[in-house]
Formats: sequence, C-alpha cells, structure tokens
Amino acid sequence: MELENKHIIIKHAIDGLPTESDFELRSAPLVLSVAQGSKEVVVKNLFLSIDPYQLNRMKTYSSTQKTSAAATRIQPWQRIDAFGVGKVVVSGNEEFERDDVVVGLLAWEEYTVVRPGTTLTKVDPHEFPLSYHASILGTSGLTAYAGFYDICKPKKGEKVFVSAASGSVGSLVGQYAKLSGCYVVGCAGSKTKVDLLKEKLGFDDAFNYKEEPDLKSALRRYFPEGIDIYFDNVGSAMLEAAVANMNLFGRVAVCGAISEYADAGKRLALDTVDVIYKRITLRGFLAFDHLHVYAGFISSTSDHLRHGRMRAVEDISTGLESVPSAFAGLFRGDNVGKKLVHLTSL
Ligand SMILES: NC(=O)c1ccc[n+]([C@@H]2O[C@H](COP(=O)([O-])OP(=O)(O)OC[C@H]3O[C@@H](n4cnc5c(N)ncnc54)[C@H](OP(=O)(O)O)[C@@H]3O)[C@@H](O)[C@H]2O)c1
Repeated sequence: MELENKHIIIKHAIDGLPTESDFELRSAPLVLSVAQGSKEVVVKNLFLSIDPYQLNRMKTYSSTQKTSAAATRIQPWQRIDAFGVGKVVVSGNEEFERDDVVVGLLAWEEYTVVRPGTTLTKVDPHEFPLSYHASILGTSGLTAYAGFYDICKPKKGEKVFVSAASGSVGSLVGQYAKLSGCYVVGCAGSKTKVDLLKEKLGFDDAFNYKEEPDLKSALRRYFPEGIDIYFDNVGSAMLEAAVANMNLFGRVAVCGAISEYADAGKRLALDTVDVIYKRITLRGFLAFDHLHVYAGFISSTSDHLRHGRMRAVEDISTGLESVPSAFAGLFRGDNVGKKLVHLTSL
C-alpha cells in the first residue's frame, strides 16, 4: 500500500527566534512495506515531542551540532527526527509486531521508517495515557530525575530553585524535590504558571521572573538562607543570579539554556571567584548519559503516578500542521508543561 506521508521541514537555517513561517508542511509517497531482511519498522506516529534543543540543530552553527549525536545539524528540506509515541504498522524486526505501541526516535511526520540501531522501545499502552510515554515517563522525566538525583544529590531540607519551573522538565524537578523533603521555589513567565506551581504542583513558593527587574535581589527575597541546589533550564542572567545566592557547596544542574538558544549575543557573566570560594559545582549534563538510572526512574515515577503523588502537566496541540506553532511557542512561553502534538489515536 502506498500513501502520502506528510512531514515538517525548515525552509532555511534559523539563527534567531523561530516563527511559524520558518517551516513548511510537505508530503512524499511512502510504501507501507519493508524490504525482506532489512529489520526496518514502519511506525504510525501518535504523539510527537516538541523540544527546545531542536533550535540548536536548526542554526547555521551551534557547538551542540558537533558534540552530541542527538543534536546534529538539521539541513533545510530534511526530515526532523524527534521523540514520540507510535504504533507499529509494518515490522521487519522480530522484536516488534504490528500494533505494538512504541516510544523512540521518530520524526515530525505522520509515518516514520525506523532503521535498525535507532532508539525504539515497546511500552504498555494500558496503564497510563499514551502521551505520558513522551512526557513524564519519557525524556523529560528522565532529564528531571537524572538531573535532580544524579547531579544535584539532594538532602532533606535543602533549598531548591528551579527555572522554567512550569515547563516539561521544571514541573517534574519541583515535584521530585518536594517528594525528597526539600524546600522548592520555582520561577516562570506568567501569573497562570506561578499559580499552577503554588496551587497544583506543591511548590513552596513561585514568582514571575518577568516582573523582577533585579533577579539577584528577587532570589535573595525568596531564599533568605541561600540556595543549595539550582536546576537551571534557562542559562544567562538567571544562572548568574542563582550563583550569587548559592550557599557553600551548592550544586547547579546545568540542564538547558533556553534564553541563549535564540539569542547568540546572550552569554553568562559568571562570578568565578564566587564559584571558587563557595565551592559550587556547576555540572552540564545530557539525560542520555544517565541511562543507569532509567529503571529506577520508571519504577519510582510510575509508582508516584499510581498513588497520586505526582502529576503530569501536558500541553497538547492537534495535527501535524500545528508543529511549527507548537515549536515557536516554546520560545514565547506559550506552553504550560510538556509540549506535545497529537496526530492520531490508536
Ligand atoms: N540536558 C538535557 O538532557 C535536556 C533534556 C531536555 C530538555 N533540556 C533543556 O531543559 C530546558 C527545559 O526544556 P523543556 O522541554 O522542559 O521546555 P519547557 O520548559 O517545557 O518549555 C520552554 C519554556 O522555557 C521558558 N522560556 C522560553 N524562553 C525563555 C527565555 N528567554 N528566558 C527564560 N525562560 C524562557 C518558557 O517558560 P516561561 O513562561 O516560564 O518563560 C517556555 O515555556 C530547555 O533549556 C531544554 O533545552 C535539557
């Protein structure tokens, strides 16, 4: 059977803030079969993950393109690989059967031909909503869990600050921190987001960073006894302000720097002497270097979900054509929680 497979491409390199007009919806014929012995799997995509790091892949140049196999440059007109949840429609690989629900590296398209060696795992489609496998039980969850437990090594009673706290990773870090007995403050870009953190996600406090002309003094107000752990999703000015307010032997998980992705001129002016004398650890990390915690992450997070101790915050758009606005919206702060695009149901 042959069909038209719709997909999203970038029209040109994107070196500033992305907009909807940087993208185009295209289609190409796809034969729903695999060559004998090819081990390929054809997946019908159900949910696609929309992630800020993709912008670094769309630029003319970013250091990420050379340092991580997952962040190589996307050329204009190329398919854009991305995590997602899908259903197997044809399989040449004995590990997968037709109708298996899978999570893995798919693409911003309706159907993806998954080649051998590409990340693809079967998931149980019954216990949790399918979208969870691309959010709280997917890479965002692993990032939050690995970054918080492996990098920050929290102790009960420690003071934790999270930026982009209502986002996909941040909303989970705050919940893990509360479950670990920490005091947690988050920052986000609107009143609605701040209310969500305080009223629904259990943060001890939260503030709108856009209303704070002086971030250092704002953090001094929220952390009169200093910050022990900073989970950084945004970089630049917020990282400077957090370091200025950190306690001795503070830990910073440098997870993301979204404020710098669309603005090449924005850079951190860190007080290095402060870092030395306060013996602060700043550690960049990528979730996929922490697969040793994957089993623990899945079992404990599933258990938290089962017992209502954690909640998934998701922001789901519908239809492949909504991918460009979903992606551009990440950089305008449109999303609340994990941004996903729903293509079709099982
Ligand atoms: N290290 C890893 O392995 C790894 C894995 C996944 C994600 N990440 C990184 O983690 C961070 C969060 O990712 P996510 O998927 O959870 O995204 P997200 O937080 O769900 O969405 C992005 C949010 O960032 C905030 N933002 C946008 N532009 C900003 C700016 N100029 N300054 C400050 N905040 C800004 C917006 O929220 P506000 O309304 O609050 O501004 C927006 O909603 C990103 O930097 C991402 O690249 C790293």
